[in-house]
Amino acid sequence: MIKEIYAPIPSRSFSSGLHKGFIKSFLMAAGLFILIQNCISQETRDIKISGSDSLKIEELIGKMSLEEKIGQLTLFASGWDVTGPSMNPDHQQLIREGKVGAILNANTIDYITALQKMAVSESRLKIPLIFGYDVIHGYRTIFPIPLGQAASWDLNAIEKAEQIAAMEASAEGINWTFAPMVDIARDPRWGRVSEGAGEDTWLGSRIATARVRGFQGNGYSDGRHILACAKHFAAYGAPVAGRDYNVVDMSPLSLYEYYLPPYKACIDAGAASVMTSFNEINGTPSTSNHWLLTDLLRKEWGFRGFIVTDYTAINELVAHGVASDLKSAAELAFNAGVDLDMEGSTFLDHLPGLLKEQKVSIDQIDEAVRRILRAKIQLGLFDDPYRFCNRQRARTDIMTRESLDFARKLVSESCVLLKNDNHTLPVSPDVKTLAVIGPLADAGEEMLGNWTALGEWEKCTTLLEGIRNRCGKSVKVVYEKGCNISDKEVSGIEAAVKLAREADYVILALGESEEMSGEAASRSDIDLPGIQNQLADAVIRTGKPVAVVLFNGRPLAISHLNDIAPAILETWFGGTQAGNGITDILFGDVNPSGKITMSFPRNTGQIPVFYNYKNTGRPPRPEEPDEKYVSRYLDCPNSPLYPFGFGLSYTSFRYSGIQAVVAGDSIRISANVSNTGDRDGEETVQLYIQDKVGSITRPVKELKGFKKLMIRKGEMVNVSFTLTAGDLSFYHPDLKKYWEPGEFNAFVGGSSAEVISAPFKL
Ligand code: NOJ
Repeated sequence: MIKEIYAPIPSRSFSSGLHKGFIKSFLMAAGLFILIQNCISQETRDIKISGSDSLKIEELIGKMSLEEKIGQLTLFASGWDVTGPSMNPDHQQLIREGKVGAILNANTIDYITALQKMAVSESRLKIPLIFGYDVIHGYRTIFPIPLGQAASWDLNAIEKAEQIAAMEASAEGINWTFAPMVDIARDPRWGRVSEGAGEDTWLGSRIATARVRGFQGNGYSDGRHILACAKHFAAYGAPVAGRDYNVVDMSPLSLYEYYLPPYKACIDAGAASVMTSFNEINGTPSTSNHWLLTDLLRKEWGFRGFIVTDYTAINELVAHGVASDLKSAAELAFNAGVDLDMEGSTFLDHLPGLLKEQKVSIDQIDEAVRRILRAKIQLGLFDDPYRFCNRQRARTDIMTRESLDFARKLVSESCVLLKNDNHTLPVSPDVKTLAVIGPLADAGEEMLGNWTALGEWEKCTTLLEGIRNRCGKSVKVVYEKGCNISDKEVSGIEAAVKLAREADYVILALGESEEMSGEAASRSDIDLPGIQNQLADAVIRTGKPVAVVLFNGRPLAISHLNDIAPAILETWFGGTQAGNGITDILFGDVNPSGKITMSFPRNTGQIPVFYNYKNTGRPPRPEEPDEKYVSRYLDCPNSPLYPFGFGLSYTSFRYSGIQAVVAGDSIRISANVSNTGDRDGEETVQLYIQDKVGSITRPVKELKGFKKLMIRKGEMVNVSFTLTAGDLSFYHPDLKKYWEPGEFNAFVGGSSAEVISAPFKL
């Protein structure tokens, strides 16, 4: 029954100099020992391989030269030429010499097969390569950006999106994704908020788990799952001033309480790899941070996969100013715990010298090699190095009807209705002429968002196409662009206004270009770019019913738009099926149910604004709004424009009858939720807790649970949550997590700001 064991980790000096028979018995004994330990601890989360595979690894390590070992710790990126994918000839030569362990960015079956062939047919020990890619929100079928997916609050759907992404990528040679990105982020100026799950740690951790499960499944034996990579470890989402790659300066308490848990969730879910982040935390770059990579990640959290750097992050230790040259950068990173150097070549160039100088040990090198080989064994690459190059599956498993239908559904689940005065949406069936206006209305090249993998924008449906598909001949659909996304050219506004006047209804598509979010895409002002507010003013002034459809990779600061537009639908970047999925919402075929997972600020100066803030000693008092000496702005309320957890529906929900009943060390919180509108709808019922008095200050509210439910019109459901005392625990100044008995408030509602509450004592 118990066939699997953890790979034993004998030291190199032990295994190299001794007789094979001895090694075998040692390994069997070690395997048995670990097997027993495993049974006792019931830990099943990390990479497991069979005893014979462990032997194979040790035999291989025994045969490897130092250069071949260091080669396994080296990853190079493939490039792109006019003729297709290409690779630096020097790097190709290194592959042939067995001095490369993994490749990033290679694509197409032919090309990956060719590179793999160099490794397994030409290199001395025939060790296969791992092929990694940024499969961030789909591979060929592109789903909404991760921040959009998070707005669905649908963990099953998020897991399924990653399953499909893994199924597609694994058919075309990819066996490792650089995802999920689980960086908590409170600053929407940072362009990479688009890749994460938003501002909340509790929700972010659950989404992280779902995404790792989706990519990795229950293992790789079906050839349809790929290695996940939890990134960017750690706290990359908190750069000062929201500027990408900037330093992170935060208290240990905040790091533990808010930023680390989603990475830990990935490890607990069995993520096979972790990527170090570019940033420093409190003076030490992550890539050279021994405490982070070894003490915390490996020793405390028990991570047994491999650690890869971000792109040239070791080399960047010189610019950070903690290493004087690349050799000492390699020494710092390797001794901190890095296994695989992404693109920097620092291990390849400097580990031999560092070993000679005894700055690193052969045991450390062997252990890092062992981790990479374990992943290769686990992927089945030694049995069949080409098992992920599956031409048959590439024909049948990519962009299937089922995947496209699912993508369409996920687009509509990700859409968030931010405003809807006078039931402007859905579009009335009486509309005869519909004007579709705006720079994002027919912008196929923007629909994929950033990190497009092998998605092709030409295969996306734009909003205009989605609307035309839906309306057929029954509605006259007319279009004007009005203006560009970001320049100041106003000449198109007049024609847009004329079109609006002639129509019964206007859909106005505004937002960012896809390149305004993602890596190296921070913005210092996150209002609509260019003259889009001017276009909106002019079109809305016609007095026609106008629904704004927003495309963007981050929360925007759209106070002006909110003041003038009757309806606003947030749609992020929806991917391949963007236009169809959004149209389903606009016409009421699907009732919107998305809720934002990151607060939308009123203006850029209000950032960071997030729901789980602390009260301060001088919180504003609603009964004395003019009191000056409280913690507030003179020119703007403290609250965001749209709070975390917020999103409207075409129906309405009423919350009542909250109860908090304590039994022993658990608490059951229940409330009634009624659908008071005229159509069925899904509601994400959210549970928040406030620890009223603690030994240290606590946030005004913290998400502790949610349930997404379909509630029929006129129906009332009773929703309950059970928490235990452990769910109320938090990190203390000694960085230990425990709870404190006392008084609490429970809140239940449809957003972090609209809740009903009940006090309880535990
Ligand atoms: C840099 C990015 O920070 C990281 O997220 C990505 O996975 C690597 N480049 C590889 O493309």
